[in-house]
Amino acid sequence: HFMQKEIYEQPVVVAQTLTSYLRPLEEQVALPDMDFDLKAIERVAIVACGTASYVGMIGKYWFERFARVPVEVDVASEFRYREAPLRKGDLAIFISQSGETADTLAALRYAKGEGVHTLSVVNVPTSTIARESETVLQTLAGPEIGVASTKAFTCQLMVLASLAVAAGKARGELSDEDETSLVHGLVEIPRLMAAALTSEPQIEKLARDISKSKDVLYLGRGTSYPLALEGALKLKEISYIHAEGYAAGELKHGPIALIDENMPVVVIAPFDRVFEKTVSNMQEVAARGGKIILMTDAKGAA
Ligand code: BG6
Repeated sequence: HFMQKEIYEQPVVVAQTLTSYLRPLEEQVALPDMDFDLKAIERVAIVACGTASYVGMIGKYWFERFARVPVEVDVASEFRYREAPLRKGDLAIFISQSGETADTLAALRYAKGEGVHTLSVVNVPTSTIARESETVLQTLAGPEIGVASTKAFTCQLMVLASLAVAAGKARGELSDEDETSLVHGLVEIPRLMAAALTSEPQIEKLARDISKSKDVLYLGRGTSYPLALEGALKLKEISYIHAEGYAAGELKHGPIALIDENMPVVVIAPFDRVFEKTVSNMQEVAARGGKIILMTDAKGAA
């Protein structure tokens, strides 16, 4: 399947994308010259569809944390009709693999009409969205044939991460040491991705179990929340199994009622500053007999 082939291309294409926006040896970000000053931006709007909109949601966490700039994220089909007030001089970012998605393009044209700076993150540099944007940051994912985005998603994340670190640096919110440590983390990603892909036999076994389920819940906090939404979207689109993604803290406000021994719950929880919080949500799932599939790192598994 093309999708499987594209999943396995990720370590290489993610490394290629990172190489365009970082200086790995110096452990610094290195964005191309842009027609606007990242220091002067007071608000960011991120607009995209489907999987690309989840990249936008993750980007919001990074921008707000590293650069302390408020970010709004919208799906393009809503943004284009809701006449959002945008201020001249603000930045609107459009994320699209194809660069041709009609709603995202219409949203870009609306934003241009409002006089904001426009930046697109696209995989196809000759696309309409790329041509009509003031600044283009290309993902180097190569052609993505599978309809459900995979390698473009992870490459888009690399561009957003590099941009958020650059914004943090330009605005004086990140020190040289912060930059070095964040870039070091990014440079490590291709190797870690390749290692994660060696889990395929275990994943295949889990997938066989999940394929018998009618509904699957995905939970996560922080940047793992949009990842939970993306996981649920992928399962729906590819397996036709009903799935929902939730912010783990929202579990108690409704979805917990659905949990029983027939409901697999995929919990995405790396060992980060909200890990313990997610573990307490996992305990609530376990108390109701839910089947937990924990996706974590070595520290979280310990
Ligand atoms: C959807 C695809 O139809 O379009 C998603 O299934 C994709 O995977 C979305 O993210 C948006 O497409 P694009 O090309 O604008 O990123």
